[in-house]
Amino acid sequence: MAATQELFEGRRVLVFGVANERSIAWGITRALHARGARIALTYLNEVLEKRVRPLGAEVGAELLLPCDVSDPDQIRAVFDAVRAEWGGLDVLVHSIAYAAREEMQGRFLDTSRAGFLQAIDISAYSLVALARAAEPLFPSTGGSILTMTYLGADKAVPNYNVMGVAKAALEACVRYLAVELGGRGIRVNAISAGPIRTLAAAGGVKGLRTLLSMVGARAPLHRNVTTGDVGNAAVFLCSDLGAAVTGEILYVDGGFSITAM
Ligand SMILES: NC(=O)c1ccc[n+]([C@@H]2O[C@H](COP(=O)([O-])OP(=O)(O)OC[C@H]3O[C@@H](n4cnc5c(N)ncnc54)[C@H](O)[C@@H]3O)[C@@H](O)[C@H]2O)c1
Repeated sequence: MAATQELFEGRRVLVFGVANERSIAWGITRALHARGARIALTYLNEVLEKRVRPLGAEVGAELLLPCDVSDPDQIRAVFDAVRAEWGGLDVLVHSIAYAAREEMQGRFLDTSRAGFLQAIDISAYSLVALARAAEPLFPSTGGSILTMTYLGADKAVPNYNVMGVAKAALEACVRYLAVELGGRGIRVNAISAGPIRTLAAAGGVKGLRTLLSMVGARAPLHRNVTTGDVGNAAVFLCSDLGAAVTGEILYVDGGFSITAM
């Protein structure tokens, strides 16, 4: 087994979901890069490109590409570029979610059809689309796919609303993909992170401050988690250390999810 500094030596890692230095995807990118990974990053649009470009430079990103996952042409262009530059791929990180702000406050009963479909499309179906595009690029020795989920998939969390439904769909996608890709040695897992103040969480999750203080007080470890904590768990799941783990939802939440009262 390789020393931990070498776990990703020469491994080609494609990351979707870096928006800025607070992004969970950035915590994962840094953790894998520190252990030798070669990095490709995507960004949603030109506004975010300005934030992501300097981060890419920090980790010597070999590719920096636009990708809105609701557009199949943009997905195809990313994987064509990866094939041309690297000839293959070892790790795919999916750290993307979106629901319209108005769908994440007020009554879940009032979720619009369009808002429901958009949340599922961007936050869950995109994993299937990216996994399908990545499959032929993984070597015969296999590879690893990682996505990000949240407790709201499993329990009703105030205001999480349609995103909870999208995360439940995402977690089911992880299991179906794990079964179908397992024969190719491709593992598919999710990390269920505790709340972290990121762009998406601060802008989308109403009552984030209360959630953070409640989790910090009640979690068995008496603290909130960081993107560094998530990155370290990603090292385990995406490297050979996690070679026998697939279809798993790994909670990185200070233990909050095991508690009741
Ligand atoms: N922050 C938390 O508390 C928390 C907890 C558990 C899980 N998560 C999950 O972690 C993942 C990353 O979120 P984050 O908290 O780091 O926030 P973030 O805002 O840093 O990342 C969300 C990313 O999704 C991308 N995105 C949105 N719509 C997209 C689209 N159409 N095409 C391509 N990319 C798109 C954004 O550009 C951004 O990079 C999400 O799946 C989120 O649900 C977050």
